[in-house]
Amino acid sequence: MSLSHTLRCIACAESLQPTLTTLECPVCGFPLEVEYPDAPDGLSPRLPLSRPEEIISLGEGNTPLIHLPRIAAELGLNQLWAKLEFEAPTGSFKDRGSAVLISVAREAGLTEFVEDSSGNAGASLSAYAAAAGMLCHVFAPSSAGIGKKNQIRVFGALLHEVEGPRQASTDAAREFVSERGIPWLSHAMSPYFMEGMKAFAYELSDTPAAPVGHVIFPVGNGSLLIGALKGYRELVQAGKLAEMPALHCVQAEAIRPIVAAINNEDWPAGAAATTIASGISVTSPPRLSQVVDAVRETGGQGVAVDEASIIGWQKRLAMSEGIFGEATSAVAFAGLERLIADGVIASDDRVVVPVTGSGLKEPLPQ
Ligand SMILES: Cc1ncc(COP(=O)(O)O)c(C=O)c1O
Ligand SMILES: [Zn+2]
Repeated sequence: MSLSHTLRCIACAESLQPTLTTLECPVCGFPLEVEYPDAPDGLSPRLPLSRPEEIISLGEGNTPLIHLPRIAAELGLNQLWAKLEFEAPTGSFKDRGSAVLISVAREAGLTEFVEDSSGNAGASLSAYAAAAGMLCHVFAPSSAGIGKKNQIRVFGALLHEVEGPRQASTDAAREFVSERGIPWLSHAMSPYFMEGMKAFAYELSDTPAAPVGHVIFPVGNGSLLIGALKGYRELVQAGKLAEMPALHCVQAEAIRPIVAAINNEDWPAGAAATTIASGISVTSPPRLSQVVDAVRETGGQGVAVDEASIIGWQKRLAMSEGIFGEATSAVAFAGLERLIADGVIASDDRVVVPVTGSGLKEPLPQ
């Protein structure tokens, strides 16, 4: 594998030679991140590939950024943009991460791997695995939207449906991996998946929304938020950006481990209830502390929103702006409303909300 980078523990800073299947620090068990020996130039995101020009691409990234004039007026904002992540090749923001992870896997000669997902990451990795000629096993909740399950199947991946909450799919994948010895690429933990997300920050830096003041994320494992922070850090380090935007973390009240941690609230995983926001139904996110640090470092907030506001915002986004996002994506808009009400976001602030996934994949909430 490429020696153009190393892997570094986010907690104890242990440095490791790169391997695809090391998902946790062997010393302390915390997640890892990619580290480069040289400084960034800030022109394009550095990638942990020996041959970046041979990246497996389906046309991910550079998603459209559009104004939301009606919602902005209703909320009293003057500068509100949506980044249409559902226009990515497989209909969610996950494709940037899959392109990098699968390209690293191909350089390492991998032919078969295991992934666990609420649906979108599984669909995305299945597509890139197909393009790379790899066999992908996806463990996903049997309750996942039919559109997501159809994608996983049509790309030729093996879908292992698991009854129960999202965590049950992770547990089943872990067991399968230990029984069968097939590599686990877990997008929630892989430093390479996270690395692909950096491009989100670079893309935004080149738009009329820049310099962005606030970005509002619906967060399950936090891959987009953490990846965006890494991209912003590179841009600041390279002198291309003076100040990072505040990165805000929004979760459903029903499952809010990260928001609770940001706000110093005790929230045991046993307190989890069900939420319509299937993409963020993650009760024990492995990168929790990293998201908390990212939000604090950038002056962001953690906000929890209720089910009625999520369902309401999915409809409102569609009816006011013609955008059909997933219910999970609507979580960010419900969070935006709260951040304005709380005085965190003011009328002239420059605000970007990623619409992370397509509404076409799941049945409409009743
Ligand atoms: C549509 C959508 N939005 C947001 C998220 C949350 O992403 P992350 O788990 O990386 O925080 C997901 C994750 O599956 C998703 O599918
Ligand atoms: Zn460590």
